[in-house]
Amino acid sequence: MTVTKGLEGIVATTSSISSIIDDTLTYVGYDIDDLAENATFEEVIYLLWHRRLPNKEELKELTAQLAENMDVPKEVLDHFKTFPIQSVHPMAALRSAISNLGLYDAEADVMDKEANYKKAIRLQAQISTIVTAFARIRKGLEPVSPKKDLSFAANFLYMLSGKDPSAIEEEAFNKALVLHADHELNASTFTARVCVATLSDVYSGITAAIGALKGPLHGGANEAVMKMLTEIGSVENVESYVKNKLDNKEKIMGFGHRVYRNGDPRAKHLRAMSEKLTKLTGQSQYYEMSVKIEELVTSQKPLPPNVDFYSASVYHSLGIDHDLFTPIFAVSRTSGWLAHILEQYDNNRLIRPRAEYTGPGMQKYVPVDER
Ligand code: COA
Repeated sequence: MTVTKGLEGIVATTSSISSIIDDTLTYVGYDIDDLAENATFEEVIYLLWHRRLPNKEELKELTAQLAENMDVPKEVLDHFKTFPIQSVHPMAALRSAISNLGLYDAEADVMDKEANYKKAIRLQAQISTIVTAFARIRKGLEPVSPKKDLSFAANFLYMLSGKDPSAIEEEAFNKALVLHADHELNASTFTARVCVATLSDVYSGITAAIGALKGPLHGGANEAVMKMLTEIGSVENVESYVKNKLDNKEKIMGFGHRVYRNGDPRAKHLRAMSEKLTKLTGQSQYYEMSVKIEELVTSQKPLPPNVDFYSASVYHSLGIDHDLFTPIFAVSRTSGWLAHILEQYDNNRLIRPRAEYTGPGMQKYVPVDER
């Protein structure tokens, strides 16, 4: 047996959804740079689920289906009121809410292709409502119902704040959703696939994936980056902060990647958005601090920024609470998780690797009184 720690470099499945080859990320063969500049999140969802871009009619149909399915059973939202709502992290609340959502779907365990596709639409639509409703309920505000004529990106911002977003806010948020939608066999997607490969249901797969995304080495890094920027406070403090972290061999959140070696292609789009939005909202210090951190880290270590680094200041500029950054990642990545779950069902085999045993050799049971 050869053990590969962290499964680095192990190819665990075939997939026709997204690829990372030579530091280029593609969704179904479309370069992420192309999609980030041109595509709507709805088009990307269709692309990931059908492996082709939709025509006008197909896009209209999917957009309408998403808008029609955004309402969430009242019981799921009421359940938030039983949580320790002031202290619970929104990712933990989201994980519970998605699990709960499955209880109110009569088709949760119907496993045919059509039923699973319909569940995918419902889940993708409802996760947006759940995150925004939680954010409001914990502030003592009523959830805002979605508007059927808004895009997915605009609807999220509208349900969060109760106000129609500006064109630039919608554009920025749409771009962030496109950039986070899928990423080959990342930890949460692998988790989702392992879960449903037992032929468990879609809700279990997404709940498991949310649990994996929550960690700071994965999706939780964007919130950790904002915490770091807040802690640093101003550009003058960056140098000593970075030195201190690197001297103490501590990780700087938002840097490094298991697969990319020369840089995460998504980061530059978020960096450009961060510059634009922080300027617009009079908070350029967050962009300037980020740039300085990047300069210092990359001049000393081969660690380019990843997707989470500049997304932090982008979401902050949109006025979003910092602990909602990772749930937003989940809203977007649900599209990729669902694509992978459906792909797994289509060509399933139980995922069950082995472990090399390192414990003691054979032992004889000793009754408790004699131990
Ligand atoms: N800051 C400082 N050093 C870092 C680092 C970071 N963000 N990321 C990796 N390193 C260093 C490690 O300390 C290690 O150094 P060593 O060999 O001297 O011990 C080396 O680089 C390899 O790191 P490792 O954690 O083993 O790489 P990995 O492939 O297992 O992990 C990440 C990849 C993404 C988990 C890792 O880079 C990380 O923890 N980054 C910060 C969290 C983050 O931004 N996550 C979001 C990913 S999109």
